[in-house]
Amino acid sequence: MTQDEQKRAVAAAAIEHISIGSIIGVGTGSTANYFIDELAKVKHKIDGAVASSDATAKRLQSHGIEVIDLNNVDDLPVYIDGADEITPHLHMIKGGGGALTREKIVSAVARKFVCITDQSKLVDVLGNFPLPIEVIPMARSYVAREILLLGGQPALRQGFITDNGNVILDVHGLQILNPVEMESALNQITGIVTNGLFARRAADLLLLGTDEGVKTMH
Ligand code: A5P
Repeated sequence: MTQDEQKRAVAAAAIEHISIGSIIGVGTGSTANYFIDELAKVKHKIDGAVASSDATAKRLQSHGIEVIDLNNVDDLPVYIDGADEITPHLHMIKGGGGALTREKIVSAVARKFVCITDQSKLVDVLGNFPLPIEVIPMARSYVAREILLLGGQPALRQGFITDNGNVILDVHGLQILNPVEMESALNQITGIVTNGLFARRAADLLLLGTDEGVKTMH
């Protein structure tokens, strides 16, 4: 299977994880887009969706799926999203599409996080993919200096503003051996809104697209 076929296969498999009459948390990116297309086929079975980005909200609405404000949701049984890297412990780097803050918020609320990726995303150690960090614009230089002290090489994502009006620093050169500790350390730096490590709230399940078909990892 090509990478694209793997993404489509895991998107289709994720439909098994939605429950009838519930609201679904929906991620951002090309794999999440395939999931939205699958969700459209069963939209009569759900009560609506919470979007993790403006782009996802638009795509859901274009399929006639109601987008619901997270503040009006009591129970979110599942959040379905892709990742840029994921380990066998289901720790992830996310935010390649710049939607990490809303992704982290929606996944924090969800009872279950189902990650859907092609096999290229599975790694033993996180950090080959530059770690995205959303930063309040006036703190950009300060945060960059703090990241250098942690051993990373920050690069401003040029010409990009998040849905929340902030900038992204992509941090190169990190070999993240303890993602839980690194996530907490980054959370302590004033001016960082969100870092792209999803380790304290890891995925509960990974649907991995492979040449042999969809594999499930817990
Ligand atoms: C969006 O901000 C990211 O967290 C995505 O989930 C991630 O970039 C995966 O995207 P693809 O499905 O396009 O690889």
